[in-house]
Amino acid sequence: MEKDTRDVIEIKNINKKFGLMESFKTLRTNLMYTENLQVISVTSTVPDEGKTVVAFQLANSFAQMDKKVLLIDCDLRRSSLNDYLVISRKSIGLTEGLTKQSRQYIKPTNIDNLFVILAGKRPPNPSELLSSPSFEKLIEQLKESFDYIIIDTPPTTVAMDAVIVGRVCDGTLMVIRNEFIKKKLLKRAKQELERNGVRIVGAVLNRVKKNQIEYSGYGYEKYY
Ligand SMILES: Nc1ncnc2c1ncn2[C@@H]1O[C@H](COP(=O)(O)OP(=O)(O)OP(=O)(O)O)[C@@H](O)[C@H]1O
Ligand SMILES: [Mg+2]
Repeated sequence: MEKDTRDVIEIKNINKKFGLMESFKTLRTNLMYTENLQVISVTSTVPDEGKTVVAFQLANSFAQMDKKVLLIDCDLRRSSLNDYLVISRKSIGLTEGLTKQSRQYIKPTNIDNLFVILAGKRPPNPSELLSSPSFEKLIEQLKESFDYIIIDTPPTTVAMDAVIVGRVCDGTLMVIRNEFIKKKLLKRAKQELERNGVRIVGAVLNRVKKNQIEYSGYGYEKYY
């Protein structure tokens, strides 16, 4: 697989902002001991629960373990990963890769072992592009080059994309923003994913209040 070494993507340090590497180490360890889990998607029920932050931190935390990691922005609708990266010029991404407009869509980053595929140009129909056989084929191919592939997706209530992507992954993490969404809605999202053959491997509770300090952490819990 070709890499565009001229276009190293700089990652803004969001660790400092949330300072929560410890919680991610626990999450990483749990996931490493889960069987057959190389491709992990991250989703949530509604927007703004913290999917992109979790996907990025998880990818970073695997990279710190000397694992070769690829972070893919499959949120072709809002491509929020861009907010955490410094992109020098209009970067190509998944859309261009899947539509064969470019082969240089895997970008190295300034973090060792961490590579990214940006979303790229918004396609007219994201769900259609993600459900095409070329997406599944691409993931199969990438599995040979990376130890872990972490995929950011849109929320389940926005589109079917998280289901479509989740089915191609070995497992999916649900991000749940603390005191933000109704249990009923979350339950429905979980059921929808599972009914469609998505394997939910865990849930991350984001923005847990610790000692009354609002700006805190992540909890990890397994679904049984
Ligand atoms: N633990 C946290 N503490 C404080 N702020 C947080 C935390 N997690 C995420 N945020 C902030 O919340 C906002 C939403 O986070 P993020 O972009 O990761 O959500 P998302 O689920 O990916 O949203 P979208 O559905 O729009 O893609 C961002 O501004 C992020 O910086
Ligand atoms: Mg996001």
